[in-house]
Amino acid sequence: MNAAIRAVVRSGIYNGLNVFGVSRGYDGIVKGDISVMETKSVANIIQRGGTILKTARSEEFKTTEGRKQAYENLRKLEIDALIVIGGDGTFTGASVFAKEFDFPVIGLPGTIDNDLLGTDFTIGYDTAINTVTEAVDKIRDTAESHDRVFVIEVMGRDCGLIAMRTGISTGAEVVVVPEVKVDYKAVMSRMDQTRKNKSSRIIIVAEGDEDGGMVVADKIREHFPHYDVRVSILGHMQRGGSPSCMDRVLASRLGVAAVEGLLEGRKGVMAGLIHGEVEYTPFANAIKHNARPNDNLMRIVNILSL
Ligand code: F6P
Repeated sequence: MNAAIRAVVRSGIYNGLNVFGVSRGYDGIVKGDISVMETKSVANIIQRGGTILKTARSEEFKTTEGRKQAYENLRKLEIDALIVIGGDGTFTGASVFAKEFDFPVIGLPGTIDNDLLGTDFTIGYDTAINTVTEAVDKIRDTAESHDRVFVIEVMGRDCGLIAMRTGISTGAEVVVVPEVKVDYKAVMSRMDQTRKNKSSRIIIVAEGDEDGGMVVADKIREHFPHYDVRVSILGHMQRGGSPSCMDRVLASRLGVAAVEGLLEGRKGVMAGLIHGEVEYTPFANAIKHNARPNDNLMRIVNILSL
């Protein structure tokens, strides 16, 4: 997110605009927590995780009164366009606000889940999957040394893309995602098949799966009582840390695209990269969840992990 903030501020200034930063998301607009951003305000942040502007969920912005207050605060400072960074919640709020006050808003896709349409990758996803890959590699060392089965739960509230890509990158034997009901018969037969070739097995479960890592582990223990099964929940470490090169470049490109999009008169859209090129997708389309799993990624997990 910091790389995106930096890109918006610097490209705004480059184009002769006055740029402001809002603290704590929509809550900051409602409360008028808005300050001038200069070139130096974003110095030395591209490598930092999190967001220097901080973030928050805003109950007030969900009300008509709150949004009216937000609009007045923006007008007081003669702010005439907004760039927001976030996922479906952020864009839903942006759509309502933009329609109510005919206010130009452009969105940047910022979520580790990669669950938005209109961009191949969201800002934060690449860093998160690299963090998961490193963590699973380390867990694999213990699993291999002790001949253990590890069930590793990764983030992904409604979407299994973190699980699927890291399933490939770590050679996981099984991947369980929220988009597909877990087929325990298939999981057990996979465990059986892979036993011949390996002494350790890794099962990656996306947190949004109906059962979750603990239940998956219990089912495996029930079926294979002699297996030494452990569970590891990676949690919020996946959302932090210094961003990867890919994420910094993505955020920089999209930050510039957001400013240029506004100058071209675009509004109510999210800037994303599709097949490597900048594309603008209406908010309503970007937040439509792609409820289907990526069959090709799942196929590759299954071919390569035997
Ligand atoms: O929406 C992105 C996400 O990373 C989900 O994968 C995860 O469930 C959630 O955020 C965690 O949010 P919180 O920090 O509010 O618990």
